[in-house]
Amino acid sequence: MFDHIPAYPGDPILSLNEDFQLDPRPNKVNLSIGIYFDDAGKLPVIDAVRRAETALLDAIGPRSYLPMAGLPLYRDTAQALVFGTDSAARAEGRIATLQTLGGSGALKVGADFLKRYFPASQMWISDPSWENHRVVFEGAGLKVNTYPYYDPQTGGLRFADMLAAIDALPAKSIVLLHACCHNPTGVDLSPAQWAELVPVLQRRELIAFVDMAYQGFGAGLEADAAPVRLLADANVPLIVANSFSKNFSLYGERVGALSVVCKSADEAARVAGQLMSAVRANYSNPPTHGARLVANVLADATLRASWEAELGAMRERILAMRKVIHAGLDGRVDEVMRARYVAQRGMFTYTGLSESQVERLRNEYAVYVLRSGRMCVAGLNARNADYVASSIAAVVSGA
Ligand code: LMR
Repeated sequence: MFDHIPAYPGDPILSLNEDFQLDPRPNKVNLSIGIYFDDAGKLPVIDAVRRAETALLDAIGPRSYLPMAGLPLYRDTAQALVFGTDSAARAEGRIATLQTLGGSGALKVGADFLKRYFPASQMWISDPSWENHRVVFEGAGLKVNTYPYYDPQTGGLRFADMLAAIDALPAKSIVLLHACCHNPTGVDLSPAQWAELVPVLQRRELIAFVDMAYQGFGAGLEADAAPVRLLADANVPLIVANSFSKNFSLYGERVGALSVVCKSADEAARVAGQLMSAVRANYSNPPTHGARLVANVLADATLRASWEAELGAMRERILAMRKVIHAGLDGRVDEVMRARYVAQRGMFTYTGLSESQVERLRNEYAVYVLRSGRMCVAGLNARNADYVASSIAAVVSGA
């Protein structure tokens, strides 16, 4: 019966991470998946999360189903973090926010909603974008196209080309944008470029779908969310997927949210209802634990301050590692390739390494980066950075 089922070629990120786990070499370095490791190479447990979790354990209660939309306190605190406490749309009850299974779950629920209510619309993602964007949106039946984004020659942004392409889209096209820490390139729009993009989205009557998986890892919690707030304040039709996987180090708990900014509270209630129907069709309702942890940290001033401080230290450590690898490559690779480590930001750098160089890095040096050349710089630490730099130097020089 199942004879005709072809083998799964694997996922470019998750399967590589699984291969890494099985690699027996003691000197292996995981710079593939977007996970923050601390300077000891360990996945951190955020202290505020540990404290919230301990408090929860002491007050273990019954675990019924959550509502389809998720935990009310979680929805409210997540919305405030994304849109700001002074958001007009929030004050007017115009944002429909649901708890989702991580950022990916938010993308899927959003995609199902769009396919159902905007069946003629097509999706436009950056070239390149996170590999799973295409998979999720095509999986929901949407046609996925790309707009120009990254310039491999300079390691920077093709902003004029991006703007021109978006300015030529049919009304109601859906434009996927990364709020900060662009995945996979680490190249973001500047505030001035966001300000130029907004009127184009408005004029062409486009829907902005913003993915914010790395809030806090770019310039800070508030600055990273600024593009979302700019779009909301300008009344651009807006959908936002956000995730707490990285900034709470809660990857396996699958905690994310989906928000749709509407014209009125009434519209938001109807949109929320249809998002719930998409949730019911996918997985019925979300799980309890991760959402309780996030909500309890965000709603408690002491825990929240502690979380913000720890997140700030994570951001600083990534910046420090960028400087270390940049220095380690001095004189060993050309300057355009080297400059990316400090010019790009967030967890990722697009190294410019070719597929064969990436393969040599893995096979000969046990250093794992994605086939596209994306490196998760949050996997670097004081002990492995020199080794990674000399391994890169070796594959680039062809030694
Ligand atoms: C990544 O890009 O590595 C992360 O977002 C993890 C994932 O699910 O792909």
